[in-house]
Amino acid sequence: MLWLLLLPLLQSAAAETGIDAWLRYARVPNYESLQDAVPGRIVALNSSSASPVYTASQELVMGFAGILGKEVEVIDSASNMRPYGSDIDSGLLVVGTVAQFAEASVDVGLEDELVNDGYHIRISGSDAHIIGANARGALHGAFNYLNALAQGNVPSESYTSNPDAPIRWVNHWDNLQDGGTHGSVERGYGGESIFYWNGSVREDLSRVPQYARLLASVGINAAIVNNVNANESMVEPRIVKGLQRIADLMRPYGVQIGMALNFATPELLGVLDTFDPLNRSVIDFWQERTDMIYQHVPDLAGFLIKASSEGQPGPLTYNRTLADGANLFAKAVRPYGGITMFRAFVYDYTTLNQTGNWKDDRANAAVEFFDGLDGSFDDNVVIQTQDYLNSDSVLVQPIDFQVREPVSPLFARLQNTASAVELQITQEYLGQQDHVFYFADLWKSILDFDLRVDGEESLVKDIVAGRRFNQPLGGYAAVSGIGLNQTWLGSHLAMSNLYLYGQMAWNPSVSSAGVIEDWTRLTFGFNQDVIDTVREISLESWPTYENYTGNLGIQTLTDILNAHYGPNPASQDGNPWGQWTRADADSIGMDRTIDNGTGFAGQYPPEVAQIYDNIETTPDDLLLWFHHVPYTYELNSGETVIQHFYNAHYAGSTNAQTFPTRWQALQGKMDEQQWSETLHKFVYQAGHSIVWRDAINDFYYNLSGIPDKLGRVGHHPYRVEAESMELDGYELYPVTPWNTASNKTCIVTSSNSTSGTASTNLDVESGTYDVAVNYFDQAIGRAQWTLYIDGTAIGEWSGDSDITLSHAPVLYIDGQTAIRITFKDVDIPSRATLKIVGVPDGQEPAPVDYVSIFPPGVVD
Ligand SMILES: *[C@@H]1O[C@H](CO)[C@@H](O)[C@H](O)[C@H]1NC(C)=O
Ligand SMILES: *[C@@H]1O[C@H](CO)[C@@H](O)[C@H](O)[C@H]1NC(C)=O
Ligand SMILES: *[C@@H]1O[C@H](CO)[C@@H](O)[C@H](O)[C@H]1NC(C)=O
Ligand SMILES: *[C@@H]1O[C@H](CO)[C@@H](O)[C@H](O)[C@H]1NC(C)=O
Ligand SMILES: *[C@@H]1O[C@H](CO)[C@@H](O)[C@H](O)[C@H]1NC(C)=O
Ligand SMILES: *[C@@H]1O[C@H](CO)[C@@H](O)[C@H](O)[C@H]1NC(C)=O
Ligand SMILES: *[C@@H]1O[C@H](CO)[C@@H](O)[C@H](O)[C@H]1NC(C)=O
Ligand SMILES: *[C@@H]1O[C@H](CO)[C@@H](O)[C@H](O)[C@H]1NC(C)=O
Ligand SMILES: *[C@@H]1O[C@H](CO)[C@@H](O)[C@H](O)[C@H]1NC(C)=O
Ligand SMILES: *[C@@H]1O[C@H](CO)[C@@H](O)[C@H](O)[C@H]1NC(C)=O
Ligand SMILES: *[C@@H]1O[C@H](CO)[C@@H](O)[C@H](O)[C@H]1NC(C)=O
Repeated sequence: MLWLLLLPLLQSAAAETGIDAWLRYARVPNYESLQDAVPGRIVALNSSSASPVYTASQELVMGFAGILGKEVEVIDSASNMRPYGSDIDSGLLVVGTVAQFAEASVDVGLEDELVNDGYHIRISGSDAHIIGANARGALHGAFNYLNALAQGNVPSESYTSNPDAPIRWVNHWDNLQDGGTHGSVERGYGGESIFYWNGSVREDLSRVPQYARLLASVGINAAIVNNVNANESMVEPRIVKGLQRIADLMRPYGVQIGMALNFATPELLGVLDTFDPLNRSVIDFWQERTDMIYQHVPDLAGFLIKASSEGQPGPLTYNRTLADGANLFAKAVRPYGGITMFRAFVYDYTTLNQTGNWKDDRANAAVEFFDGLDGSFDDNVVIQTQDYLNSDSVLVQPIDFQVREPVSPLFARLQNTASAVELQITQEYLGQQDHVFYFADLWKSILDFDLRVDGEESLVKDIVAGRRFNQPLGGYAAVSGIGLNQTWLGSHLAMSNLYLYGQMAWNPSVSSAGVIEDWTRLTFGFNQDVIDTVREISLESWPTYENYTGNLGIQTLTDILNAHYGPNPASQDGNPWGQWTRADADSIGMDRTIDNGTGFAGQYPPEVAQIYDNIETTPDDLLLWFHHVPYTYELNSGETVIQHFYNAHYAGSTNAQTFPTRWQALQGKMDEQQWSETLHKFVYQAGHSIVWRDAINDFYYNLSGIPDKLGRVGHHPYRVEAESMELDGYELYPVTPWNTASNKTCIVTSSNSTSGTASTNLDVESGTYDVAVNYFDQAIGRAQWTLYIDGTAIGEWSGDSDITLSHAPVLYIDGQTAIRITFKDVDIPSRATLKIVGVPDGQEPAPVDYVSIFPPGVVD
């Protein structure tokens, strides 16, 4: 078969940056046999280039050419169409809306009901009709047809597909500017904003239609294009004109734009001295701005409001309710059919008592703030609650997108108000696109959760779809995080989550494994080893990451004060943000029980409250979210809390060591660039998982004094501390937090202009070893290191991870900049000398933590 020979050639010829993501339209292996199975001519029932129907026809032309190598013509007029029922196949693919088909006198004979944005694909002989409920639905249908084709399947039977919920939005946390001229993305790890630069909308918006295309292909229907921590300038005419350009570029893809607003805008712009939502002048201000905005963007989806949260102004400033605040905007957009999304991420951290009021709990805030307001929101208000792992708009998470949290009880309480769940695609607390994290099972654990309202099945996915409480609105929002990076998110694999999000918002019952297999075929091609490996690693990614970060519901244990990235469990107590673990020498966990604790468990409907209030019935994986227990408390698994911590951290980091090895086996089986960039991430993750393992285990061992039954924690037989070497031009440096360096100490060059040398005589038998060097790479310079064995350089590297990795740049020597490089299969004679030469660069003093020399295959 010819394609077998051709395919690898084609692939190695084209180095792929990832910019086309899952829409590469790459030639499928069986393309020749499929060419005759698809129609040869396309009719678009709307030839206006602004119409998603026209876009659909263009995508089909591109798709047929790329996937099948088949050139097809587009016939603009519907005159060539014959009504169904004719027995002559004419090989036409017709795409349009139900109304347009009717106008063209085609009886589409729809048996299933189509809801907004849904579609029906009718296959009849050699004809295919893609019938959208609306123009956007027709485009979704075309993308769905192409999705099948790009996986080697020609749809051969008619089918209907409707979205589960009307709201399927992405949120962007893009700033107009940040410090310098860059349009930054808050919690974004994929480069600068595609929308803004230097305080204005970019001149060059060429990435915007490419992005809208990706969104449309997975059923997303709107994008909030600026940060919820919104800048007041967003409503100035010069910015609104720029938003109009963005909207014009997205409209052909059926993606509407929406805006986040700063509640205090009237005051911040100096127009009024108040932003009281009940003041007439304030109401008029917002109506005028809204009218002006809709003149430029007549199909604006609506507004997103974060108010009275994290120091942001809001209605509470004037003793007004959240409903007063939300309804102000809801009334302004109502004449235009717009929606107001109000974020339930409400808490006032200034009232939290860091010094230890046992009953204080930020998790309680959302329900408390919304208490008594259900029913007072206008019907075009949607409350966006962070889901358990997510913290922002809709109703999902009680704290903030942690590695495991329970579902927000607010979902059960807003029965007369539309709600949406807010998820996070960008991996703020979950490895910032440098650790692999596939969200499917995590999101399902939220969406499939049964809140048992009134003793009846009340799945979160049914609540947000509006089914459970008969709400016409509701759905999904996700914080996207994409930027100018060619991979969009800063990582090829991370893009599976954007794809997944669209698929799940359309149908929350899709299979976790099925989605990742589809995505892999579309993104990396058909090699079965590639598909299997990506699926396996992706499905392992959540338990692996949870294992080496924060277990049993204690939260992710990242540095909470700064980058939200590396390990820093000490920062999880005494911080002003209310993310606490209440760890002391004997015990750990937030007591959220009803009688003795913060009462959070009591915010759930009785059946769920009972489960969480009772330590016996609380699942192990949320134990420390709900209960405060001694480290020696025995879990349902039979292990103690502290031993579970130790075991899980070893299990997780040991599994992460397999990722680069498994990935290496795929070389030549997929695009080389995508392969090598992904390998780079896996190698880094494997090293950083060991930093995590040791930082967390050392911290809790130190705090509790309880040793690891298996003798691993604090015992590192293969390790040589840099501080125990002979130093010349290097000196000892105590690292903060101490647990992020082995033996609390690293070495740094004594001056910022002269290199340092650390050397030691190795006490290993002659043989072949892997040699790992743990060092720190701050985001402030390009220090250089060289490793010698008996005077021979075996490796040289530079402190450039701030440009080769995606996580937030950090300036300090800590768990976020800790990094490992490993040299494999190094021949080491007995009594060899090992030497590291570090060349500082500016303020980066070539820090080294330790060297580990271990037999290949061992996890040190
Ligand atoms: C064709 O598309 C344009 C742009 O979306 C729209 O204004 C027009 O109403 C559409 N025509 C029909 C017949 O649907
Ligand atoms: C950024 O915008 C300001 C006006 O707001 C302008 O003065 C400045 O020249 C711009 N900077 C660049 C680099 O274009
Ligand atoms: C909004 O942006 C302007 C600069 O464009 C800045 O001066 C102002 O402080 C920003 N407002 C907020 C609330 O951050
Ligand atoms: C509304 O705000 C304006 C501007 O600050 C003020 O002059 C007016 O008195 C306020 N109206 C009421 C009823 O408080
Ligand atoms: C809000 O209410 C508190 C307590 O009732 C009061 O002290 C405060 O002055 C009020 N603030 C405003 C802006 O009305
Ligand atoms: C915080 O809690 C501590 C200990 O319970 C108490 O001494 C202190 O007064 C509290 N502070 C505030 C501001 O409530
Ligand atoms: C009850 O709360 C107190 C703090 O007020 C805490 O010290 C104690 O451990 C808690 N008891 C139980 C059984 O959780
Ligand atoms: C996570 O840790 C638990 C407890 O040690 C273990 O049973 C499980 O296999 C681990 N899973 C992974 C993927 O590391
Ligand atoms: C650990 O670090 C201290 C200095 O912080 C040093 O004196 C000691 O030798 C180190 N231990 C080892 C085993 O390197
Ligand atoms: C994209 O991000 C990766 C880090 O994740 C970086 O190595 C690469 O240089 C970036 N590429 C572009 C074109 O910005
Ligand atoms: C080098 O160190 C000196 C003294 O600490 C400091 O003044 C200088 O700014 C440093 N140079 C750089 C490039 O960081």
